[in-house]
Amino acid sequence: MENEKKYKIGFTCGVFDLFHVGHLNLLENCKKQCETLIVGLCTDEYVEKVKHKDPVFSQEERFRILSALKMVDRVEYVSIEEVTDKELAQRIFGFDVLFSGDDWKDTDRYLKTEKEFAKIGVSIEYLPYTKGISTTSIKESLKQY
Ligand code: CTP
Repeated sequence: MENEKKYKIGFTCGVFDLFHVGHLNLLENCKKQCETLIVGLCTDEYVEKVKHKDPVFSQEERFRILSALKMVDRVEYVSIEEVTDKELAQRIFGFDVLFSGDDWKDTDRYLKTEKEFAKIGVSIEYLPYTKGISTTSIKESLKQY
């Protein structure tokens, strides 16, 4: 049945600049496991301050692209604090599962968050990163044209 998903509200966040198939795979995998998918979108300020670069597409453009996808139910801008502190994000968005890239698995930060989430019945699912594509690699490959 359509509603028989493992989780009710799923949350994932990222920059999603130059939207590509790695982003699509991630969001499709998230939606397979939850009824409602909320995407936390990193603001331009986040990209400038944390990644020390300017996004190619503005936050408004990235917001529109994500909102148009059928597997995305809601897009919300997230602050630097909400991206860094997933417990804060959980209190704001009320999700029962956080989806993250599997490169975060077994890191101290995520092990700690897993423990805190376990106390309130929230899960973390680690999803595979699509190899061979990233916003950075697209920018690099465009330099040759
Ligand atoms: N992602 C993925 N596979 C990829 C690229 C991204 O699963 N090949 C996932 C990331 O793990 C993250 C989300 O997509 O959960 C948004 O990633 P983002 O950092 O915006 O994308 P990148 O293409 O990795 O950007 P950059 O090269 O700037 O790091």
